[in-house]
Amino acid sequence: MSESKSNAGLSVFALKCAVNGERTEREICSSRSLIEFIRGDLGLKGTKEGCGEGECGACMVLVDGKAVNSCLMMAVQLHGKELVTIEGIKGKGGGLHPLQKSFMTEGAVQCGFCTPGLIVASEALLRRNPGATLEDIKLELTGNLCRCTGYEKVLSAVEKARGK
Ligand code: FES
Ligand code: FES
Repeated sequence: MSESKSNAGLSVFALKCAVNGERTEREICSSRSLIEFIRGDLGLKGTKEGCGEGECGACMVLVDGKAVNSCLMMAVQLHGKELVTIEGIKGKGGGLHPLQKSFMTEGAVQCGFCTPGLIVASEALLRRNPGATLEDIKLELTGNLCRCTGYEKVLSAVEKARGK
């Protein structure tokens, strides 16, 4: 990662990473958070910013397959890594992912603000533990807050998508 100084004296980095399966290279300010990079620079608005301090999970994305709160990570930390946002979570053939289908059929979405983060967290769990139990799912989703749907339908949706 090469670093230089902008006219304003800020450090600028040449960031190389993969975003939803495509290699990309961007110049970014060292103080840019990952969520600012995703929504502002990449224009991927599916990732939401709720609390901005690691409490709600609305901003969750996958970095090298691990669910992280993008409001707590700096964009430069993405260098050399693979980012997957909600836009990159797809089913076979590019259609809806099984989690997206089951969230719809189980009625697990109301306003939808928390949904990208819940799906990202669930995807991270099911990738590393395809046979996750209800308790595993509950534990994984403790960092994702939903203020309208309630969690029963979300848990049912993740259970339904398990193994698909
Ligand atoms: S916006 Fe990142 S955890 Fe709430
Ligand atoms: S569906 Fe509205 S916050 Fe979860």
